[in-house]
Amino acid sequence: MRLDPDNIILKKIGKAADESGFRIYVVGGYVRDLILGIRDNDIDIMVLGDGIKFAELISEKFNRPLDAVYKNFATALLNTDGYKIEFASARKESYSRNSRKPEVESAGLIEDLSRRDFTINAIALGLNEDNYGMLTDNFNGYRDIQDKIIRTPLDPLKTFEDDPLRIMRAVRFAAKLNFTIDENAFDAIKKMKNRLTEDKVVSQERITNEFLQILMTDKPSAGLDLLFRSGVMDVIFPEISALAGVEQRKEYHHKDVFYHTLIVVDNISMKTENLWLRFAALVHDIAKPLTKKFIDGTGWTFHGHEELGARMMKKIFIRMKLPMNRLEYVEKLVRMHLRPIPLAKENVTDSAFRRLAAEAGNELEDLLMLCRADITSKNPDKVNRFMNNYALVEKMVMEVQAKDELRNFQSPVRGNEIMEICGLKEGREVGIIKSKIEEAILEGEIKNDYEEAKKYLLDIKDEMLSSFAKNKSKQTAKIKSSRS
Ligand code: CTP
Repeated sequence: MRLDPDNIILKKIGKAADESGFRIYVVGGYVRDLILGIRDNDIDIMVLGDGIKFAELISEKFNRPLDAVYKNFATALLNTDGYKIEFASARKESYSRNSRKPEVESAGLIEDLSRRDFTINAIALGLNEDNYGMLTDNFNGYRDIQDKIIRTPLDPLKTFEDDPLRIMRAVRFAAKLNFTIDENAFDAIKKMKNRLTEDKVVSQERITNEFLQILMTDKPSAGLDLLFRSGVMDVIFPEISALAGVEQRKEYHHKDVFYHTLIVVDNISMKTENLWLRFAALVHDIAKPLTKKFIDGTGWTFHGHEELGARMMKKIFIRMKLPMNRLEYVEKLVRMHLRPIPLAKENVTDSAFRRLAAEAGNELEDLLMLCRADITSKNPDKVNRFMNNYALVEKMVMEVQAKDELRNFQSPVRGNEIMEICGLKEGREVGIIKSKIEEAILEGEIKNDYEEAKKYLLDIKDEMLSSFAKNKSKQTAKIKSSRS
């Protein structure tokens, strides 16, 4: 089968290979994405022979220095024309960078392809003139892409043993591309899951990176559920798998917090690409299992789960090597995720809204988004009612904030200047003129700036002074008539 990558850079690299006698192929994600019709700027070039030498030749031809050379892995990196091009010698070992024996042994094309993670990533596309665009697909990757299947080229136990990170990659590709994991591969994942964290074969950063990529897919529940059903979640994030399960006592049962959480994460992912808001949704109920109590006559309670959940975050961030500068944000959302609920009732004082707004600060919008995503009831009337309640909370908070602004707000033209321009002495009238300027700003008649406010003052000055004068004469007349 032949494909036309229609890419000038690839044509140029292919020509250089012909001139220098190298056999080269594009492999991995670029080929997979080309078949799927997805644009990809990461190009992996497999070189039969010395990959670094070929990369150096290309670097000269493109007149660009190589961005990195990894001798141990026989690979080199070149960034050019918006592409990240990695040159690697065909090899016998796994493709992981964290392999404990990184010295690579050279191999032929098919042997190299067989040591890759999945058949969909084990298709090579020729770049030399005699095979330009020809696919080498000994493991039926093309068919698996059409059938939307994640399968390993070799026995999956061997493929995952070579590099356990592939367990996470299988789930990530399945989640991102909406593919299913082949049964044999899924069984192997279940068997091999502990290898992910055993003996430090795989670094925590790599596991976390894959996990966060899963969280950034369109519908993260798919990947999170695969992690859970394969037992991988238990290994990499046990607090999340502990959310699963329902306990029944007497006539009371509580909802399965894990499946509730998946819906919350999907809900929020429809609204935001903010990874940390998605993460907050994932962990918002994380302390429910630890705070769960059965109270006779009341049923199941989870008192304080929001506070304990927030306090659990630091350890989790450290263990998972998450960026510590996002900790406070996630803690805040977990801690506050119940706060807006009681504010949706009648007779709530302004100060309650003010306090919520002040405490949530810049995160108020995100907090309300989390609260809305947290509504997972199947009863549409209930969902509507709760959504309306949050709309009300939002409206009230905004109203209070607007009022507060009015309170703290000052006319840009100050009292002394008003006195000077209007020839007034200190007193009530100065205050009246000042409020009139402020009102005009808040009503949007003029901008909140000094020049506009001064011009406005000059415009209203005569009218204001004459109305003060009229009032004064009225008052004097009143006084006179009351005396007579
Ligand atoms: N590979 C592998 N095992 C790994 C990592 C990578 O076999 N643990 C191989 C796969 O053939 C993969 C290629 O190396 O396609 C390039 O890896 P990478 O750039 O990490 O992934 P891509 O498949 O290009 O996909 P993406 O960029 O979406 O991660």
